[in-house]
Amino acid sequence: MCGIIGYTGPDPALRVLLDGLATLEYRGYDSAGVVLVDDRPGAPAELAVRKRAGKLQVLVDDVAGQDLTGSTGLGHTRWATHGDPNDRNAHPHVSGDGNVAVIHNGIIENYADLKSELLANGYTFRSDTDTEVVVQLVAALYDRAAQSGEGSPLARAVRIAVKRLEGAFSLAFVDRREPGVIVAVRREAPMVLGHRDGASLLASDVAGLLAHTRDVEALLNDQVAILTADGITVTDLDGAPASGHRFTVDWDVADAEMQGFAHFMLKEIHEQPRAVRETLLGRTDDDGRIVLDDLRVPSEELRHVDKVVIVACGTSFHSGMVAKYAIEHWAHIPVEVEIASEFRYRDPILSPHMLVVAISQSGETADTLAAAAHARAQGATVVAITNVVGSSLAREADAVLYTRAGPEIAVASTKAFTTQMVALEILALYLAQLRRALFPDEVADHLARMHALPALIEEVLDCERQMADLAQTVARARYVMFFGRHVGLPIALEGALKLKEISYLHAEGFPAGEMKHGPIALIDEGGPVVALATRGHVRSKIISNIEQVKGRGAVVLAIATEGDTEIKEHSDHVVYVPDVHELLTPILTVVPLQLLSYHVAIALGRDVDQPRNLAKTVTVE
Ligand code: AGP
Repeated sequence: MCGIIGYTGPDPALRVLLDGLATLEYRGYDSAGVVLVDDRPGAPAELAVRKRAGKLQVLVDDVAGQDLTGSTGLGHTRWATHGDPNDRNAHPHVSGDGNVAVIHNGIIENYADLKSELLANGYTFRSDTDTEVVVQLVAALYDRAAQSGEGSPLARAVRIAVKRLEGAFSLAFVDRREPGVIVAVRREAPMVLGHRDGASLLASDVAGLLAHTRDVEALLNDQVAILTADGITVTDLDGAPASGHRFTVDWDVADAEMQGFAHFMLKEIHEQPRAVRETLLGRTDDDGRIVLDDLRVPSEELRHVDKVVIVACGTSFHSGMVAKYAIEHWAHIPVEVEIASEFRYRDPILSPHMLVVAISQSGETADTLAAAAHARAQGATVVAITNVVGSSLAREADAVLYTRAGPEIAVASTKAFTTQMVALEILALYLAQLRRALFPDEVADHLARMHALPALIEEVLDCERQMADLAQTVARARYVMFFGRHVGLPIALEGALKLKEISYLHAEGFPAGEMKHGPIALIDEGGPVVALATRGHVRSKIISNIEQVKGRGAVVLAIATEGDTEIKEHSDHVVYVPDVHELLTPILTVVPLQLLSYHVAIALGRDVDQPRNLAKTVTVE
């Protein structure tokens, strides 16, 4: 969850680190800090640490005008796990002898045992974090490491120390006795490396490197990297040469900038037509048949899949719910969708004929990674749906189908969601094509309908003024309920998730038919209810459900299909979306709900892109 950046090269490191942290702040914003190896001539090198609780800006204001010199350093933005989000617990942490500094993303699960051992040996601690244990351990091992072997003693000390650590982590170290050197290591938490023009960098994700290079090396589990201005060396934990996973990112640095929008979320909502278009690009051959070049599973294997299991978290889980309807309807394969954190701790009955689809925008969500690994260990084939080339999920799955949304910076996921639904529906059609569950012309027709989506999303975006007006009323509500049936249900859940995560209003989504089994008791006079009521085989049932809540005082906002004038008789407000195939409606109906959440959050003065308590990439359990 935390953002980490490291730089060693010819330039003053502070500017590079602060700019890097600005691009990574979405990963955590409880505190921010930097350490510079101040190695000005004529004096022994010193570590200069500045760290402050709160947003990055607090640190930026703090260091402004300070004499912070050094061309090697580390930076960190924190999402607190162990220890309150205060100055003391902010990273970097420095060893008691003042020699070594560390930044950390993840959790050291056996930190309590290690801490007791270090305390017994006379070490003292200044923070409540698990991280400080690591830096004390490395410092304790340094002298022994310095007496054995060639090269960086820091790297050797880190290798020995990491063998004693349990948990998921990426760590980066500097040592004042080795100015110009950064040592990094990772296990189950992301770390990417880049080199350009006499400078080497590391970051917790590619967004932190984009301003410098698009050629990236992702460190693999239990690999150690030594970064100097001249280059990067990677070894395993025994010091044997190794190499990470190298790839080129096709994102542009401008893709990770706000480009005139007030917030990343708003920009990303408006980028959806382009993102969907990109995700659809090049998926067919000259005969109109679907070809998925990035899906490296033999067709024969996919033809014989007898069950699909989808695992994901949060918004990605909701796209998985939509996929269930598409795969079952088009490919006639039974589908189960499960929250990854639940799937990973039960004993699912899996077989080689099952296809497990793991969905993750970031490709780094700890629970989704673990669920995918759990499935592979039991012989199932795992297909990843992810937005990030080179991410852990992309590397570890048997095959990948990329969404091409470009970097998603806002914590609230929008364009990743719509592109996930598109990618999953392409997968559904592909399975249908392989199994001959649909005729080729039917597949072609569905694809043609999908290619019309970008222009239709463009039309839906025109409802922004209407959503901004409605947001003024919704913002005064005590709670907001969303309901839907069939493919409307995942959108009801997603609408509620979006609203609660950025506005902090109590919002819940329900299957419309379940309302009368309990949730309807919550309805009181004027309580807002959002109903997914587009044309389809369950529309008349939804109308009945709307009547049930209206009869109890609810104020209903219906998301309906253009031309449906009758819906106005049943609801207080209507937002229209174009008429599309029922299975494609979620890709349109979610857009007004994203805009509603955004404008409610604005009306309430919330921090839209960095909502409280959350982080973009959830790399801890
Ligand atoms: C969405 O708005 C959320 N912030 C969150 O639910 C997110 O979708 C979830 O953490 C999964 O992330 P992933 O797609 O990167 O795995």
